[in-house]
Amino acid sequence: MNTRIEAALNDQIRKEASSSQFYLSMASWAEGKGFNGTAKFLYQHSDEERFHMLKLVKFINERGGKADIPAIEKPPVSFESLEKVFESLLAHEMDVTASINNLVDICLQEKDYTTHNFVQWYVSEQLEEEALARTILDKLRMIGSDKGGLYLFDRDLENSAIAPDAATQN
Ligand code: FEO
Repeated sequence: MNTRIEAALNDQIRKEASSSQFYLSMASWAEGKGFNGTAKFLYQHSDEERFHMLKLVKFINERGGKADIPAIEKPPVSFESLEKVFESLLAHEMDVTASINNLVDICLQEKDYTTHNFVQWYVSEQLEEEALARTILDKLRMIGSDKGGLYLFDRDLENSAIAPDAATQN
């Protein structure tokens, strides 16, 4: 496997793993605050990020490269509000999107069309994840600090009206 591509894919493994850990910490915080619907959504999101990481690990190894399983930085343990949680989540996803775009660039520069094709799955995934995070954030900004609104928001998230679909994880 091309060493530049291998390094970039390994870097992406680290980013997906750190997303998973970050969202797990958000889920745990939300659960502790009684936002059980939001916690459920975030636990599920954390699982999805782990799946994104595994997909990369397997791709690298199947193509004769060596996947590096990285150490993960400790994520924040507490958050000011649900709005802040989803602001951080969106910022994090935008960062991941930039990294995926960079990966696409490297594939083209190295003329690695197989990896380029593989990475397209992540391009679409990022589009969906960013759109979902923006939708949620818009709702939270509308609600502000209204307790009744936050209660309904949490319940809606639990009922998966705007939750990611686990069935799309392949
Ligand atoms: Fe796998 Fe949300 O980046």
